[in-house]
Amino acid sequence: MADMQESSYKADELIARDIDAYLAQHQHKSLLRFITCGSVDDGKSTLIGRLLYDSKMIFEDQLAALEADSKKLGTQGQNIDFALLVDGLAAEREQGITIDVAYRFFATEKRKFIVADTPGHEQYTRNMVTGASTADLAVILIDARKGVLTQTRRHSYLVNLIGIRHVVLAVNKMDLIGYDQAKYDEIVAAYKAFAGSIGIGEFTAIPISGFVGDNITAKSGNTPWYAGPTLMHVLETVELNVTAESERPFRLPVQWVNRPNLDFRGFSGLIAGGVIEAGDAVRVLPSGKTSVVSRIVTQGGDLARAVAGQSVTLTLADEIDCSRGDVITKADEPVQVADQFEATLVWMSDEALSVGRGYWLKMGTQTVSATVQAPKYQVNVNTLEHVAAKTLELNAIGVAQVSTDRAIPFEPYDANRTLGGFILIDKMTNATVGAGMIRFALRRSQNVHWQALDVSREVRAGLKNQKPAVLWFTGLSGAGKSTIANLVEKKLVRMNRHTFLLDGDNVRHGLNKDLGFTQADRIENIRRVGEVARLMADAGMIVITAFISPFRSEREMVRRMLPEGEFFEVFIDTSLREAEARDVKGLYKKARAGQLKNFTGIDSPYEPPVAPEIHIDTAMMSPEAAAELIIERLIP
Ligand code: ADX
Repeated sequence: MADMQESSYKADELIARDIDAYLAQHQHKSLLRFITCGSVDDGKSTLIGRLLYDSKMIFEDQLAALEADSKKLGTQGQNIDFALLVDGLAAEREQGITIDVAYRFFATEKRKFIVADTPGHEQYTRNMVTGASTADLAVILIDARKGVLTQTRRHSYLVNLIGIRHVVLAVNKMDLIGYDQAKYDEIVAAYKAFAGSIGIGEFTAIPISGFVGDNITAKSGNTPWYAGPTLMHVLETVELNVTAESERPFRLPVQWVNRPNLDFRGFSGLIAGGVIEAGDAVRVLPSGKTSVVSRIVTQGGDLARAVAGQSVTLTLADEIDCSRGDVITKADEPVQVADQFEATLVWMSDEALSVGRGYWLKMGTQTVSATVQAPKYQVNVNTLEHVAAKTLELNAIGVAQVSTDRAIPFEPYDANRTLGGFILIDKMTNATVGAGMIRFALRRSQNVHWQALDVSREVRAGLKNQKPAVLWFTGLSGAGKSTIANLVEKKLVRMNRHTFLLDGDNVRHGLNKDLGFTQADRIENIRRVGEVARLMADAGMIVITAFISPFRSEREMVRRMLPEGEFFEVFIDTSLREAEARDVKGLYKKARAGQLKNFTGIDSPYEPPVAPEIHIDTAMMSPEAAAELIIERLIP
């Protein structure tokens, strides 16, 4: 206790006397990133407040804000009250709760720290995952009165999955159970059994009270039976990730190509593993091209050698292709390249995973389009059982196959967090909806290659004397898609064009007869039709499709499959009331009577196009006139 106090007095003195000297001293300290996790009310804010308070080195902005607060309350500015500090932190986090994770900085004589402070509510697992992805250590907080809870298990499972190597089990609120050693031992034993079963081999258990300050920075007289280290001691001495990362193979995910003038071309990024020296032979993935490192440039000048955790710009001896998202490795230690993976997914959105839908997959410095197949299983975090699942709901953890639209350089997550960890982003809302960890690439993705063909799509279209196109009709059932599409095709054929009409009702009798009308089935329906339309456009055809295709995401997906200017979204716009009044097939009546589930417009959504190439308002125009208009737009 005396020791700790003395050192913080010394620091106070130095800050007062010579702030520059104090900051300089800090620059050379190592940095530990850690997270705290646990359930609501486990006492996270109090613990973090205690660490900041006892280390007496709160970063300036936090200090200033708190001082202002204490002045308002009429307390002494210099001497910030512990309770006030904790209230301030909690209030600040409540405000930021919808945003993300609050990162707090503090320092002691030995080290600097960044702690990711994440809300404990069940629905904020996503924040915990975000905070954990760069952490060296996790403090798992347990309320001594409650013991191991579902949330403790879920967070521990994630901590292990994310690959945090050091775990501290902080059994908090010991004061509230009268520092009862037997109860403490019971909790530690229960946690040990669970931890072992998920692969957390070692952890340090500490009986603490964030409120009283027991075993945080100084050994507590209240727990004479505890012989282990204080929490601060563990934080100050635990081995850092960078040390371990430097021992792995060299990996530089290229963030940008640095070309200030014609004489300089460098590849910049943060080294995600290993060591590089000038003169080393390197390889660029996915191309596989090799060269030799000429210079290692940094802000502070050239280096002879750089290690994991440093930001560098490499220049190479040869002019080889290399762009953002590529990975530079040592020539004889390349990363793998693939487009199909098995991955562990943590779902973080209120909207469940849409199997087959396109998401943006962001990994390292690359962003690609990706789809997820139906999960192989979901994990029950309490029993660790593998449970069957059709999708993944909020907070679910599961394993599924992921396909990307092009082959990407990667490593299994176990080997490299940066090159094997990804997030999934909703293409429409841009929200992060899931996090994933690559387990391995599927072998077929490495063995099935794209066959380069000599007869190109231009040659095929040229023979037919036309420009390929896809007229993608969308609209409610009964809007008139098939009727108008049929007229358009007849007119095109009369103009000697080579066409093909893919119609929903017909395709659902053949190619897609295994599909129904759930969201997942409709997505798959459109994906297949999109692929077929693409093949036919490659064959030089003018393709007309007539499907409800209710979701924007999938229509956009098909748009992106085709070259610019070949996709025409044709919105056949009929009000629900009108379509229902016509009810040609009698399906609306059935749907209203509850005999037909998931009917578009009734109990399944229709998302109208935002900016269709062609908009047909059927209330204003006959099918014949609509067909004329479409042809005019297609062939001006
Ligand atoms: S889509 O939503 O997947 O694009 P698609 O165009 O293939 O649908 O099929 C729609 C046709 O299937 C409708 O015109 C209608 O005849 C029939 N159908 C049967 N059940 C449904 C349903 N639940 N919702 C919409 N259409 C249905």
